[in-house]
Formats: sequence, structure tokens, C-alpha cells
Amino acid sequence: MRVTVVGSGFVGQTTAMRLVERGLAEVVLIDIVEGLPQGLALDMRQSAPVVGFEPTVVGTNDYADTAGSDVVVITAGFPRQPGMSRMDLLGKNAGIVREVVERFIPSSPNAIIVVVTNPLDEMTFLAADVSGFPKERVMGMAGVLDSARLRAFIAEELGVSPLVVEAMTLGSHGESMVPLPRHATVDGKPLAELVDNATLGRLFARTRDAGAEIVGLLKKGSAYYAPSASAARMVETIAGRNDGPLPVSAWCTGQYGIDEVYVGVPVRLSLAGVSEIVELDLNDDELAALRAAAEGIRAKCADLGAL
Ligand SMILES: NC(=O)c1ccc[n+]([C@@H]2O[C@H](COP(=O)([O-])OP(=O)(O)OC[C@H]3O[C@@H](n4cnc5c(N)ncnc54)[C@H](O)[C@@H]3O)[C@@H](O)[C@H]2O)c1
Repeated sequence: MRVTVVGSGFVGQTTAMRLVERGLAEVVLIDIVEGLPQGLALDMRQSAPVVGFEPTVVGTNDYADTAGSDVVVITAGFPRQPGMSRMDLLGKNAGIVREVVERFIPSSPNAIIVVVTNPLDEMTFLAADVSGFPKERVMGMAGVLDSARLRAFIAEELGVSPLVVEAMTLGSHGESMVPLPRHATVDGKPLAELVDNATLGRLFARTRDAGAEIVGLLKKGSAYYAPSASAARMVETIAGRNDGPLPVSAWCTGQYGIDEVYVGVPVRLSLAGVSEIVELDLNDDELAALRAAAEGIRAKCADLGAL
């Protein structure tokens, strides 16, 4: 598989490294900064003899080198900085995502697009709109990350390995994240039997604010290890290396009573993109929260028209 990672900042470069280290793909890393992707790719290739992988990564500033990509992961753009309003970020990153999509589609007309750039839901909608690709070939990364953060917090709370914790969040990042406590388990046991409601609420709140917690600690920049692991997991699943459903920002066409909007739902991925939206058994409250998240996203996407 050939994967282009657009943006060679923290998220882009770590995503590229994870893909190439796992032998998942031939990776093209691209950025507008001259020399940056080339230098990073050279450095990664030099780690190959030590770590033990085929050094199938190149860096470039030229979209001609991305031709024939099966997947394009878009990480180009600014993270939100202190003092920056949502509309400022929307304006800046919309310009970048629009340009990126226009530049790679002529030579990769059959690619699957995985959007990582924030604000995620709006940028995913924009990438679909600008590309004109079938919506199942355009998706956003948020739920894999939020679910991973929740699993990590549950594991730390209970002093167990995160590998025995299953949990999923739907909806979107932040306020519109929809945690599903009824579907969370630890070593096969329902989470709700292991912690009280106050603890559950605290774990969900920390997950919702996890990005801001990391920004507060780093002072400069935002999270990238878990975000890149999440983007790489999506590519891995598209490649067929892993077949479980993942929570992905996907275009709904009536599932969960939600129509014509991108929102985080469990999906099956394949080389066709989103091959199925999995309809979990949600109760009335969970369904209402998911639908409210979808309507919030629909309203936010309307702001793209005001730019
Ligand atoms: N969806 C998520 O869960 C999630 C998680 C983490 C980060 N993000 C987002 O991912 C984006 C990248 O974060 P980061 O930490 O890597 O930022 P970063 O500043 O480290 O890297 C961004 C890179 O994009 C490049 N870039 C800018 N304009 C470009 C263009 N037109 N073409 C190609 N490259 C261009 C920059 O030169 C830079 O190297 C941000 O928008 C951030 O908010 C999303």
C-alpha cells in the first residue's frame, strides 16, 4: 500500500514513522517547508537497521511524488494556540486543507482520505466537499484517540493493563464526545460494576479534556503520540491488518437516525474506505447524545460557508 502523510509536523512525522516501522506501507511524507520531510525521512531510514524494518519512506515538497496513493492522511495545519478562536483556527486550516486536497487528487483520484487536522469534523466535511470523492472514502480521526485515552485512564484508575480494557466513545471531540459506559469492559467485566458513577463521570471528563491537559503540560504544541497511533491504526485497519470496528468520523446516511453529516460512529474499514457503519444497541440517552453531537457538527460545518 502507498500512503501519503501530508504535514510533517509532530503528528505527521510520528504517523509516518509508525506506518513504516510496522511495514504497513510505502510512505511519502510531504510538507511545505523545504527540507523538513526529506530530512525526517532520511533520519527514519537510518533507524531501519537498528529497529529492523524496510526503509520505505521518502520525504518531498512535490505532489508529483505522491501519485498513486491508496491513502492520504492529512495532518497539515495549525494546532489551536492560546488566544486563537475557533473561527481563527477554522479559517487558517480550511485554507490549508482545501489547498492540500486540490493538489493531491489529480494524481491520486482513488485515494482514501483520513483527516486529522482540527477542527476535525469541519475539516473532514471540507475534504469530502473539495475532493468530490464518494463520502465513504473520506473520514476523520477522533474517536480512536478519545477511546484510547479513555481506556488508558480506566486502566490507570483500576491499576490494570490498558490491553484488557475495552471502551469506545462516539460523537466528536470535546463537549460532544459520547462515552458509552454500558459498552465498556475490564477483563470482560462491565466497567459499571467496577467503579461508581462519580468515578465514571471523572474518567469521562478527563477524557473529554485530555487534549487540553496535554497542551497545558507541554506549554507549546499539542499531543502527537496517541494521535499518530490512532491515525496509524486507521490505516492498518484499512489495509486489512485488523478487522474490529473503530469509532471514526464517518458520513451517516440514516444510521442511528442521523443523515448527511460526519459524526463519530463505529465503522468497518477496508480498501473501499468505510465499508459499514455498525449500529450498536444504544439506549435512548445515548442515542439522544449522539444525535445532538451530529446536529452540533452540522451547525459547525455551516460556518465554513461564512469564511
Ligand atoms: N484529530 C485529532 O484527534 C488530532 C490530534 C492531534 C492533533 N490534531 C491536529 O493535527 C494538526 C497537526 O498537528 P501537529 O501537532 O502535527 O502540528 P505541527 O505544527 O507540528 O505540524 C503541522 C505541519 O503542517 C505543515 N503545513 C502547514 N501548511 C501546509 C500545507 N499547505 N501543506 C503541507 N503542509 C503544511 C507545517 O509546515 C507543519 O510542519 C493540527 O491541526 C492539530 O490540531 C488533531
